Amino acid sequence: MKISIIGAGNVGSLSALRIAQEQLGEVILVDIVKGLAKGKAFDLEDSRSILRLNYNIKGSDDISAIADSDIVVITAGLPRKPGMTREDLLNKNSQILRQTAQAVKKLSPGAILIVVTNPLDLMTRLALEATGFKKEKVFGMGLTLDTSRFVSLIAGELNLAIGDIEAMVIGSHGEGMLPLARFTNIKGVALEELLNKERVDILIQKTVGRGAEVVSLLGSGSAYFAPSAAIAELVRVIVRDEKRTLGVSTYLNGEYGIRDLCIGVPCRLGKSGIEQIIELDLNEQEKDALLSCAARLREQCKAIKI
Ligand code: LAC
Repeated sequence: MKISIIGAGNVGSLSALRIAQEQLGEVILVDIVKGLAKGKAFDLEDSRSILRLNYNIKGSDDISAIADSDIVVITAGLPRKPGMTREDLLNKNSQILRQTAQAVKKLSPGAILIVVTNPLDLMTRLALEATGFKKEKVFGMGLTLDTSRFVSLIAGELNLAIGDIEAMVIGSHGEGMLPLARFTNIKGVALEELLNKERVDILIQKTVGRGAEVVSLLGSGSAYFAPSAAIAELVRVIVRDEKRTLGVSTYLNGEYGIRDLCIGVPCRLGKSGIEQIIELDLNEQEKDALLSCAARLREQCKAIKI
């Protein structure tokens, strides 16, 4: 498997490390900044003998290095600064994304494309349009990370084992994110039975705000440890054809009453990309929240002419 990562910032380079360490395939790291990807690839390969792992990572500032990839991950783009929402990045990153996606189309027409650049759902929709790839082959990494954050916060609050918590988040990877308490349980016991509504609501708000909290604590740049773990997980699910159900931003064509938008919902993933979109049985309140999140995304799509 040839796995290319475009963007050698913190998220891209740490994803390269995780994917290589799991030995999921040959890793190509690309960045337009001269020398950056190559330097990081040398540095990453130089740890092989200490780690006793025999992976290969190639770095390049020439996008043609991604030719004939099986999987391409786009992390390129500007990260958030303190006080910015993911949506504030819209204009600048849409230019970067459009160009990058066109290069992917030309160089790796058979690839599965994972979009990571923010604002995630809009960039995923843009990548789908710019590549013309089938909708099963283009999706966005956002909810896998948000779900992991929700789990972390629940585990901390209830002092529970991470592995016992099954959480669900849908909606946009942004202010319209919807952590769903009703679909979150601990070994079959609903979260709402273990915590009162007030505490649950606080955990939900913390999950939505977690990315911004990290941005403001870091002072510059955004999170990268958990985002790269989420990227590596998606790559592994594809490479190993695991058929796992994970939240990703996907193109909806009537599912959940939404059309012609990319938004986050649970999907079954395997070697061909998205193999099934799972439709949760949402109640009226959850449905309304998802539809208003979709309406907001639709407005933003118009702003970047998609
Ligand atoms: C975050 C960025 C990666 O959620 O969107 O931290």
